[in-house]
Amino acid sequence: MRVAWWEEAVFYQIYPRSFKDSNGDGIGDLPGITEKLDYLAELGIDALWISPVFPSPMRDFGYDVADYRGIDPIFGDAGDFAALMREAKKRGIKIVMDLVANHSSDEHPWFTEARASRESPKHDWYIWVPETGAPPNNWKAVFELGSAWHPNPGTGERYLGTFTRHQPEFDWRNPELRSAFYDIMKYWYDLGVDGFRLDVATAYMKDPELRSNPFSFRAIPDFFQKHLHDRNHRDFHAVFREMRQVADESPALDPASSSPGERVLIAEPYGEDAELAASCLGVAGDELHLAFNFEFLKQPWEAQGFRASAERWYALLPKGGWPNFTLGNHDKPRSAWRYRSRKPGITEARAKLTAAMLLTLKGTPFLYYGEEIGMTCQRLPKAALRDPLGIATWPLGFLGRDPERTPMQWSGASDGGFGSPSPWLPMNPDWKTRNVEAQEADPGSLLSWYRSLTKLRREEAELRHGEIRFVDSEGEILAYERLGERPDDKILVYLNFSSRRIRIGIGKELRVLLGSHRAPGSLVAAGAAELGPCEALIAR
Ligand code: NOJ
Repeated sequence: MRVAWWEEAVFYQIYPRSFKDSNGDGIGDLPGITEKLDYLAELGIDALWISPVFPSPMRDFGYDVADYRGIDPIFGDAGDFAALMREAKKRGIKIVMDLVANHSSDEHPWFTEARASRESPKHDWYIWVPETGAPPNNWKAVFELGSAWHPNPGTGERYLGTFTRHQPEFDWRNPELRSAFYDIMKYWYDLGVDGFRLDVATAYMKDPELRSNPFSFRAIPDFFQKHLHDRNHRDFHAVFREMRQVADESPALDPASSSPGERVLIAEPYGEDAELAASCLGVAGDELHLAFNFEFLKQPWEAQGFRASAERWYALLPKGGWPNFTLGNHDKPRSAWRYRSRKPGITEARAKLTAAMLLTLKGTPFLYYGEEIGMTCQRLPKAALRDPLGIATWPLGFLGRDPERTPMQWSGASDGGFGSPSPWLPMNPDWKTRNVEAQEADPGSLLSWYRSLTKLRREEAELRHGEIRFVDSEGEILAYERLGERPDDKILVYLNFSSRRIRIGIGKELRVLLGSHRAPGSLVAAGAAELGPCEALIAR
């Protein structure tokens, strides 16, 4: 059985501004990431997804790119990127870049040229309508809460920008634009990157007739619109197939093991439903490799809800499609905060439980930086806000994304070990007690638990690519088996979502591989057993 590296890998998302600042300017950078590679290796990380580091005016903190081949000086330079690649490879860590190809910055030279004249060769790389007084439809700029059509007096037109006016959208129906992006992808493949996370990939194509979206009752995150026409137009399949071909034709990274699937393409669908995510993989195995299913990010704390969500995801995937799971990213409140309890001990125990679930379900796990130490969110004062969405929606709590982007908490030092006394966003006030240094010294910490889980995944093939079979269990228990090649090879996972003890029935004696409440190697006798509050038990 051939297994692609990205099916087995544990991914870790770095939001580079907030990871580690090597030069004291308040903003994390590439040398900062390089400095922490040993930490990441120790954590059992196989691949990094790094949020955009391209030159950018930072109106959306890198999701507004002004040069797709460069590195923003805030993060370092080409030499720093090469050093990061080299050091990461030495440790067996792959690097996935974040390609923001739905839109550029309004300061990208392409757009400067496009907006100067209707005759400019780059004009049709973007989406325009004639200025007739009113916008042509009801599409919204979601970070500005106003129309997505922004006037360009120079040409007497409006251009489309569904995020901010500083993020004009490309016309992916234009063949020249498409090949320009494939060249950009080849450029980074030639430098040895292992793949791309594709920002709002399902938004590349819009309704050719630019029809208005119908009304929806959902205010958040849909702005009272059913987004039928401004995003997720299924013509994206043609682009995905072309991107896949470029990836498959890229030079082998390791000539000794040249095989397709070496480079990975990961879609960020523009929507929260698993069906849209599954569609990014196509049906013939010739589109994207992975796509984020964001259902866990809105899943309430219910064992059976997680089970139903995972089963739905598995069922929706096309034949040969591979699932993935994530609990957090730079756009959504952190999982430790979402699943907090009034009792701090339970919040901590729940973080261990979700970690065990993430790392033992069938699918590629994606961790978000700081999740491994249980970083949480705090409400920030207006003056501290940086995110355009947070500023536009203030004082509505937690619609903005700054709370989940605070600096990584490395130590209890006055700068939290981040590297600057006044970082671009304030440290979360709990950094003095919740930090890497403190948790490294504590075998019972969340960080130690994550390390044990990734280690177990590396040791046990069933956890990486075995089939999954859910075990019928009582309401607050989530239980499943990961199956090996032979009928007797199987690992059992029991997760108690309740804060009280719960009795379960065990078919045959089990040997503990890893447990939040039990020592590895200890035995659980057949018959009735009791799981402690929020206990995670992984056994054979
Ligand atoms: C999705 C990214 O995750 C988000 O951070 C960004 O603001 C938008 N796409 C626009 O690029």
